[in-house]
Amino acid sequence: MKISAHSDAVVFFGATGDLAYKMIFPALQGLVRARRLTVPIIGVAQPRWSDAQLRARARESISEHGGADAADFAKLARLLRYVYGDYNDPATFQRLRQALGAARKPLYYLAIPPALFPMVISRLKSIPATAAGRIVLEKPFGRDLRSARALNRLLLSEFSEPNIYRIDHYLGKEPVQNLMYFRFSNWVLEPLWNRDCVKSVQITMAEDFGVKGRGKVYEEMGAIRDVVQNHMLQVLACLAMEAPKASGSESLRNEKATILKAIQPLEKGDVVRGQFRGYREEPGVASDSRVETFAAVRLRMNIPRWKGVPFLIRAGKALAATCTEALVEFKSPARTAFGEKIFGRSDVNYLRFRLGPKVAIALGVRSKAPGEPMLGEHAELVAVDRHAGEMGPYERLLGDVMRGDPSLFAREDAVEAAWRVVDPILGDKVPLHEYRPGTWGPPRADKLATNFGGWHNPVVQGGIS
Ligand code: BG6
Repeated sequence: MKISAHSDAVVFFGATGDLAYKMIFPALQGLVRARRLTVPIIGVAQPRWSDAQLRARARESISEHGGADAADFAKLARLLRYVYGDYNDPATFQRLRQALGAARKPLYYLAIPPALFPMVISRLKSIPATAAGRIVLEKPFGRDLRSARALNRLLLSEFSEPNIYRIDHYLGKEPVQNLMYFRFSNWVLEPLWNRDCVKSVQITMAEDFGVKGRGKVYEEMGAIRDVVQNHMLQVLACLAMEAPKASGSESLRNEKATILKAIQPLEKGDVVRGQFRGYREEPGVASDSRVETFAAVRLRMNIPRWKGVPFLIRAGKALAATCTEALVEFKSPARTAFGEKIFGRSDVNYLRFRLGPKVAIALGVRSKAPGEPMLGEHAELVAVDRHAGEMGPYERLLGDVMRGDPSLFAREDAVEAAWRVVDPILGDKVPLHEYRPGTWGPPRADKLATNFGGWHNPVVQGGIS
């Protein structure tokens, strides 16, 4: 793989914010610990803080998110600088330019609300090193197809596509990368991985908590913009794509983009939206909010491999469990060799990928039950991930940006293709159904899956699953 020059400074906007606190400081600490980050790190935000205040914030964040030994933290602290100021004030960027010193290839991370992107991007032009720098953005990339295109145009006015890194942290997760590795390294799967053998594919992203005080931000998004357009469609792409034709990052991204472009735009009848009871009482949420906290969608693809196979996605807050799982269910013949009657999903073959919080892969099979008759029982061949302390997605992805490896980042055409899928049903076009917290969403969602054996509800209790 061709890797270009290493970033020689890290600048993150939104240094006093939530994302920096929860994700960026711990990721930076991980990179410093692994000796993969030795360049200056400049936090930028509006409050008039000092370097010492930023370091104190970093220390607090890191001790809350995994901790660090004193020597590692001291190394990080030595690299940290703070630049304060309004993002619309040229003086802020003047101070940033000074702080960057001789850096020629800075990495700019916009950990700020998307509404501020245009302002910051246009102000960055005043810094000569920017033209050769890299820019990292958090999803959502736009609010719909039109705004995503406008954002891409804005980014491309200052940065070239290879220097634009759109972070979707799901792509930095080990089990999501393993979806591709597992498929393309176990060729025994290939003859099965198509419309002849696959009955349906389901992905569930369930969270048993609400919006955790992010009501104001969530009101701008809803479940479709928050996780379906990005995380869920990326997982789907990993499950459905063709094997990359070459080893470079573009080959991988080409295949993902091809799949996303092949998905038919959603129609109203293929979508169910829900809102959990009590959402409207959350701080920052409108008392008559029509924003969905749950979405279920049924997708189809216009390509020979998957023609006619339903891809079902379900994602929501305040559901019965916290668990992300994909299930590929295989077709089964109407009768079995021993005349046994087979009912329900637990009695057919499937591959189940548990993507989090615990990680597992399971093959659903039938096996003979002890006794005289040729009767069987359902069993799962399960491989559970036991690796501890692996690199978190943000550490992995930030390290990749610094090395200039875009493989695990969403490319412009893929992002626009994903918006094209959800664009027709965004907003309040599809009815909203209330659901009780702690359930699997509105009962109405069952209808989407009725003809395909119903939804598979991940089982979270009891060890492996
Ligand atoms: C974020 C969403 O991108 O992903 C959140 O904005 C969601 O709403 C989170 O809770 C889930 O991430 P993970 O890694 O915990 O599955």
